[in-house]
Amino acid sequence: MKHKLALIGCGGMARSHVSRFEELLDRLEVTAVVDTDIERARAVAELLPNDPVVSTDHRDALKVCDAVLLALPHHLHCEYTVACLNAGKHVLAEKPLANTEAECLEMIEAARRNDRVLMVAYCMRFHPLVVKMKELIEKQTYGQTFQLSIWTEQHTEREPSNWICRAALLGGGQLFSHGCHYIDLMLWMMGKPVEGSHIGTNLGTPWMEREGTSNVSMKFENGACGYHFGTWGARGTKLGYSFQAHCEEGMLEIDYAKGQLLLHSRLEKHIPGVHDNNTSVKVLLEAPGVKPTTIEMAHFLDCIETGKTPLTDAESSLEGLKVIWKLYEAEDKHELADLSGIIRKFK
Ligand SMILES: NC(=O)c1ccc[n+]([C@@H]2O[C@H](COP(=O)([O-])OP(=O)(O)OC[C@H]3O[C@@H](n4cnc5c(N)ncnc54)[C@H](O)[C@@H]3O)[C@@H](O)[C@H]2O)c1
Repeated sequence: MKHKLALIGCGGMARSHVSRFEELLDRLEVTAVVDTDIERARAVAELLPNDPVVSTDHRDALKVCDAVLLALPHHLHCEYTVACLNAGKHVLAEKPLANTEAECLEMIEAARRNDRVLMVAYCMRFHPLVVKMKELIEKQTYGQTFQLSIWTEQHTEREPSNWICRAALLGGGQLFSHGCHYIDLMLWMMGKPVEGSHIGTNLGTPWMEREGTSNVSMKFENGACGYHFGTWGARGTKLGYSFQAHCEEGMLEIDYAKGQLLLHSRLEKHIPGVHDNNTSVKVLLEAPGVKPTTIEMAHFLDCIETGKTPLTDAESSLEGLKVIWKLYEAEDKHELADLSGIIRKFK
C-alpha cells in the first residue's frame, strides 16, 4: 500500500524534496499539492508522475491524503500542523518546529491527542557523514572530542518584504532559521550544554531584519566546546559547509562539498615543544553532499508504518530551539547564557 502524501507549501524547500522523490515512488504517491500561489502548486504538480489535486486551500488536500509534508513560512507551522493532526494526518513538518515554545507544545499535544506521527525535518541528522561522525565521537574512537565546530556559508538574498527577512515571521534571524539545524546537531552529538553566547549582525545582509550572520559558542556538560558560524551573506566561500571535531587523537572533518568524512592525524607521537606538520589524511567515508531528504522521508514512512518514535521527533527538536531562545535573550542583555538544566532529551 502506498502512502498518500499531500504537500502544503510549494516553495523552494518543497521543490527540493520533490526533486529527490523518485526512489520513494514505490512507497508514496503525492495526492495533493497546495499553495496560496496556485502557480507554485501547479509547477510542483508538473514535477510529479501522477495528477495530484492542485489547490490553494489545505482542506482540499486533507480529503485525499493520510500524511502531509508541511513546508510553510515559520509563523504558519503551528496552525497548519495542528489542523492536519486534528484531521488525523501524520505530519513531517519542515524545521524549525514553530516560533514560540507555546506553539511547539500545542503541536506536540495535538500529535499525542490524535495519536499521529509528528516529525521535524532536521534532514542533516540523516546524512551518512554526520551519522558516522556522531558514532565516532560517541565511541571515542579517536579519544574524547574537545571541540566541535560547524561552518555554513550561503548567500540567500531576498526582497526585504519576503517572510524570510522579517523577524516576527521567521521567528528570529539566520540562527533561528538555518542555524537551528546545527544547534540541534551539536546537542545530538555533544549532549547537554551548560553555557553559551550568540553574537549576530545584519551587516552584509541588510535585507535581514535580525541577524544574517551568526556566531555561537557553547560549553557542554563534559567540558567540551562547540562553535557554530553561519552566514546568509557569503559572496564567496572556501569552507562552504564544514564540520570539524577535534579529538584527543586526531581531527574529524566533514567536507560536505567533496562528500567525505576525513581523519586528520599525526603520523608520530607529538613531542612537546616540537612543531610538527607531519599529519596524514585518511578518508573514512564517502557520501554525496546532498540534502538527505530521501532518507528522512523514508524514516517518516517507517515511523507511520511501525509506530516508532521518529529520530527527529518534535520533543527533541524543541530542545535546540530552547537553547536558541536563551542565547538570543542573553545576547539582548549582553550576557553569557546559562544553558544548564534547560534541555532534557539529549544525554
Ligand atoms: N531542511 C532544509 O534544509 C530547508 C531549507 C530551506 C527551507 N526549509 C524550510 O522549509 C519551509 C519553507 O521554506 P521555503 O524556503 O520553501 O519558503 P518559500 O517562501 O520558498 O515557500 C513557502 C511557500 O508557502 C506558500 N504559502 C504561504 N502561505 C501559505 C498558506 N497559508 N497556505 C499554503 N501555502 C502558503 C508560499 O506561497 C510559498 O510558496 C520553512 O520551514 C523553511 O525553514 C528547510
